[in-house]
Amino acid sequence: MATPSATDFPPTATGGFYARRLMRPGAVLAPMAGYSDAPMRQLAAEQGALWTVSEMISARGLVLGSEQESLHLGRPYPGEQGRVVQLFGADPDVLARAVALSEAWFSPAALDLNLGCPVPKVRGKGGACLLQTPDVAYTLVRAMRAATGLDVSAKIRLGWDENRSVEIAQGLSEAGAAVITVHGRTSAQRYTGEADWDAIGRVAAAVPTPVIGSGDVLTPEQARTRRRQSGVAAVMIGRGAVGNPWLFRALASGDDALPSAPERAQMAWRHAQLQHHFYTTPHRRDPARLHVASMRPLRKVLPRYLPDHPELHPALQQVEALEDVHCALTPLLGSPAPAGVGAFTDLGISPRMPERANAYAGEQS
Ligand SMILES: Cc1cc2nc3c(=O)[nH]c(=O)nc-3n(C[C@H](O)[C@H](O)[C@H](O)COP(=O)(O)O)c2cc1C
Repeated sequence: MATPSATDFPPTATGGFYARRLMRPGAVLAPMAGYSDAPMRQLAAEQGALWTVSEMISARGLVLGSEQESLHLGRPYPGEQGRVVQLFGADPDVLARAVALSEAWFSPAALDLNLGCPVPKVRGKGGACLLQTPDVAYTLVRAMRAATGLDVSAKIRLGWDENRSVEIAQGLSEAGAAVITVHGRTSAQRYTGEADWDAIGRVAAAVPTPVIGSGDVLTPEQARTRRRQSGVAAVMIGRGAVGNPWLFRALASGDDALPSAPERAQMAWRHAQLQHHFYTTPHRRDPARLHVASMRPLRKVLPRYLPDHPELHPALQQVEALEDVHCALTPLLGSPAPAGVGAFTDLGISPRMPERANAYAGEQS
């Protein structure tokens, strides 16, 4: 299969975001509920990710204003650029309104429609079940496009329980999706088996729209091979990027070297600081509320920075507060916690990230 070069996808007449970004080398940070929040996106973007995608946000929750959580999920970090907001929903009017609100509140670079989430909570409200009724999915993309001048994309799995990805991608392309991301599994497969990159390649060959391939990419070399063999415009990386933002640097610059353990510990510490700062900074749409300062959501993340230092994992898996993170990393950071690190208070609001991640990833077994 021929590998398209970046120039196969020149900017559209409107200079679309995706077309511009696809002129660069690099990979995309996947949307991951419970992971791809502002701190993770910031680290990926700094290392050269082509773009990043928010955790999925309920269009209905956003429109009804019933889910304060939506504000966290959509809120950019200061100065954030190149971030796509992903929505899920099944009603064209609600999605159109959610697009308008997202544009006004979250400054997205583009909007993405989730057509791949398999979790029961989302069924009937959007996600992968729409792969059973693709005509509805096309209507949703059209409604989103009518509501914004920004690019609208869609992220699918191969199908619900059989591979219908070529047919569905063709329909999405005709509906005007600017990019189609394909996770190479059916919804019924959840996260079992291996992502089918041959199937992803067949989609890439069948539609004029740039296709992004997703599934099981863990190393720069794998990403290059997958891209070359499948002919996708770019590779998206999810689980492999947890604790490894350098994957994006490797694919943007060709520098595959993994930093030393002390440098990786510094990055883990920075992740914790960004986490603290983001979740304790009041939002202008929700100014009264001071948010969670807990480091619990990072318990699953921090050890991934240091797979070669298992002796540090027990402490990293028990962190509560920012000072605990510094303490756990001190053998590699080599300095005591800076003054004031322990002064932050955990307000006792239960952290949301593990719950969201478990809801999505619980389907992996
Ligand atoms: C914990 C977790 C959360 C996810 N959340 C989302 C999501 O919010 N929206 C989405 O489109 N895909 C979501 N995905 C799917 C990923 O974007 C990606 O397509 C999939 O994990 C395969 O890529 P990977 O092997 O690089 O992780 C999630 C996956 C995981 C493991």
